Amino acid sequence: MISPVTLADGAIVRGARADDLPAARELEAAREGEDDAVDLELVGHTPGACGGMAVIERDGEILSIATLLAERVRFGGTTLSAGQVEMVATASSAEGRGYARALMNWCHELSTSRGDALQVMIGIPNFYRQFGYHYSIPMHPWTQAKQAVAPPTDVTVRRATIDDLDDLGRLQDAAQSHYDVAMPHSADCWGWILQHPSSVQHLASDSAGASAGVARMFDDGDGSVDVGELTASTPAATAALIAHAQALAGADRTVRVSHRPHVPGLADLLGTPERREWYYARIPDPAALFDALAPELLRRLHEMGREAGELLISFYRSHVRLAWNSDRLEVTKGGPLQAPVSAGGSGVPLDALPALLFGGGAAAIDQRFPDALLGRQEDLMRQLFPPQRADLLTFYLPS
Ligand SMILES: CC(C)(COP(=O)(O)OP(=O)(O)OC[C@H]1O[C@@H](n2cnc3c(N)ncnc32)[C@H](O)[C@@H]1OP(=O)(O)O)[C@@H](O)C(=O)NCCC(=O)NCCS
Repeated sequence: MISPVTLADGAIVRGARADDLPAARELEAAREGEDDAVDLELVGHTPGACGGMAVIERDGEILSIATLLAERVRFGGTTLSAGQVEMVATASSAEGRGYARALMNWCHELSTSRGDALQVMIGIPNFYRQFGYHYSIPMHPWTQAKQAVAPPTDVTVRRATIDDLDDLGRLQDAAQSHYDVAMPHSADCWGWILQHPSSVQHLASDSAGASAGVARMFDDGDGSVDVGELTASTPAATAALIAHAQALAGADRTVRVSHRPHVPGLADLLGTPERREWYYARIPDPAALFDALAPELLRRLHEMGREAGELLISFYRSHVRLAWNSDRLEVTKGGPLQAPVSAGGSGVPLDALPALLFGGGAAAIDQRFPDALLGRQEDLMRQLFPPQRADLLTFYLPS
């Protein structure tokens, strides 16, 4: 439970109560549309999830809202607790007063109290940088289907229901096993996206009736369908799902597909990818995150044949020393360290850290950040932090 905060103008930042929901819904509808207002209502009525909702109230009026969702991010063989901030909105009449900033602080405090090692999110461009988020994990690119796809005769596609949950989870778990970094839908999130109006899960079944593929489709009702989270066990199931989306889109057939590289037969159906978007990630406490990652890092080091050793990584304003042997990896936290290379370590600016761990790895940050200095540990850094294949399932499909 996070204590309420009173802002300079007298507005109160506090956790949402059940009787705030109608006003919060109205605010979300005004700023983000009716579909998103339904989402807010679904979350608000979910025991547990509603505890992540915060509001700003002034003179009895709800003027700003935000919600922290509980997520799990798998990093190799280690799973991290993570937070995702969603449904951020301020009334038009109250913009520019620092309300979104105050709510982000509230959400981050709650996230820390839940033991989250990081936050990830999709958000409007640039805005979230000022709250410590960095563009770190490339999304699968959206790509248009290059031609009309004939529906295979031996695969049927239908709308999935809550009764299909086990199959949907199994198909997505199998899909995500191809990735180094994966965030599945939480059980709550599955419930929301199977009920909400803005996207629909479509399930492909083979001639024996076994589930062979799934895709989440957003139909704008105007001839354009976005197909996200597509996975299938056969090229025929992939083709059936794309053909189904094309039928939904209608005659002009604008079908955009989020191109997950592992899906059988998908690359053959798609044209030139659009410019990639990126997930934002935020690491509030690097030493705590390295502690949480220790089992996977130790596994990698042993796999590399490095039974024991040390690694020094400076974020310039603070640093960590990793020391490991055959049993364990220990993380020691330290203060400012301006010249990491001459101290035998590497310099990793904080805005590069999420990309080092969850994105392009040491090679990418070496290219992208002038103050990322791998130093004499370069070989070890590149081996320990290789480029990561990431697959994140989020409440909203990226657009
Ligand atoms: C985006 C939105 C939530 C901002 O709310 P707000 O309460 O006005 O934001 P704040 O006053 O806390 O702004 C914090 C800072 O961000 C700046 N800012 C505001 N909108 C910004 C934007 N779109 N991009 C970059 N910076 C922005 C403010 O100037 C302020 O800077 P300062 O602290 O240096 O003065 C609000 O405009 C909104 O509800 N928009 C419509 C819904 C939406 O887009 N939600 C986000 C979905 S991801």
